[in-house]
Amino acid sequence: MSAFSRHGGVLHAESVALTDVAAEFGTPCWVYSRQALESALDEFQRELRGLDALVCYAVKANSNLAVLDVLARRGAGFDIVSAGELKRVLAIGADPQRIVFSGVGKSAAEMELALTTGILCFNVESAAELERLNGVAAKLGKKAPISLRVNPDVDAGTHPYISTGLKENKFGVAYDEARALYRRAAGLANVEISGIDCHIGSQLLDPAPFAEALDKLLALIDQLAADGIAVHHVDLGGGLGIRYRDSDALTTVEAYLQPLLAKLKGRSLRILLEPGRRVVGNAGLLLTRVEYLKPGEVKNFAIVDAAMNDLARPALYGSWHDIVPVVSRQGAPTTWEIVGPVCESGDFLGHGRELTLADGDLLAILSAGAYSMAMSSNYNTRPRAAEVMVDGTQAHLVRRRETVEELYALEQRLP
Ligand code: LLP
Repeated sequence: MSAFSRHGGVLHAESVALTDVAAEFGTPCWVYSRQALESALDEFQRELRGLDALVCYAVKANSNLAVLDVLARRGAGFDIVSAGELKRVLAIGADPQRIVFSGVGKSAAEMELALTTGILCFNVESAAELERLNGVAAKLGKKAPISLRVNPDVDAGTHPYISTGLKENKFGVAYDEARALYRRAAGLANVEISGIDCHIGSQLLDPAPFAEALDKLLALIDQLAADGIAVHHVDLGGGLGIRYRDSDALTTVEAYLQPLLAKLKGRSLRILLEPGRRVVGNAGLLLTRVEYLKPGEVKNFAIVDAAMNDLARPALYGSWHDIVPVVSRQGAPTTWEIVGPVCESGDFLGHGRELTLADGDLLAILSAGAYSMAMSSNYNTRPRAAEVMVDGTQAHLVRRRETVEELYALEQRLP
């Protein structure tokens, strides 16, 4: 994470000291690095240079408009899963022809909006969805470009909550049923077959399952060709993991993509990818301040001002995020439970961290650019934290902190 480094003992985002960010914007606060975002996207673009390919950033990972805008300016398209995400990407002026729509539960209203917008492709996940989409498109007098999300039944070897490519998952069309469903699609008047896609899971550190999934898709593409059905693009979804801790065996984008590109050589297939975490995950951190130190007989608690409502991943998946002091402090470390103020024992951000701490210290919770702010809530009537994007020497507020009044502004008492 070179965009976040220490100068004179103080952790910086690019050229801005995080102590200055905390002083100006308060804590808790999300801090993103524009440079880290751009270079993560560039890693994909570099491998795909000269090919007919499109990187559709998975908006769900971090949907802040500034993040989307920085990526769009750098040539990214978008993978969306709701009308809300569609409106976000349209709000930053994204080209509809660079938008793909994933998700198992698209409503008719969402389909209508995407059809009138003229998106690149619907990633269809079931027979029922295909029929509904055909009906909605007929009503609008349109043809919906589609891809079937095929479930290749490969084991991504990741956390069960974020593993999606196995038979027992709710996602995609079963591999053995896909050929028949493509035939059905070919016979529908208001859909047009554009591609094939899969997404086998998230936070994959081993590139082998991606290659296994692609082999299965290619075999299916050949069967479809025999049926007279042409597929123009292959979308391999997202899923490439990031470093959360040193022990993570990180795969380079090159090591992930080269075997896939080798398999695609000589086939005139456009390549789509939907990375989320790998683009934003290491480009953000959560800045928090120690409110209280509460040493105990069994455990020592450091109570910080960020909580599970801000960063749910540790509570939800038992995920590890490195936690480091913003200002290095001398002295022997103690083992701390880093916890938030929320009234739940599950409200922890890190267990057993060796740190030298004092009240009021600033901590940075690292690798918090993906699925962090995007999954935050207002539990305990806690306003969502501010989001700041650093660009060189400038720190820009890209979402102001919510006020408590805003949290209940939509509510009413009975008459
Ligand atoms: N495409 C589809 C269809 C997806 O469902 C996802 C993520 C992606 C692309 C992007 O995957 P990525 O490149 O980010 O791995 N909340 C969890 C992760 C959930 C992932 C959901 N789908 C977490 O915090 O680890």
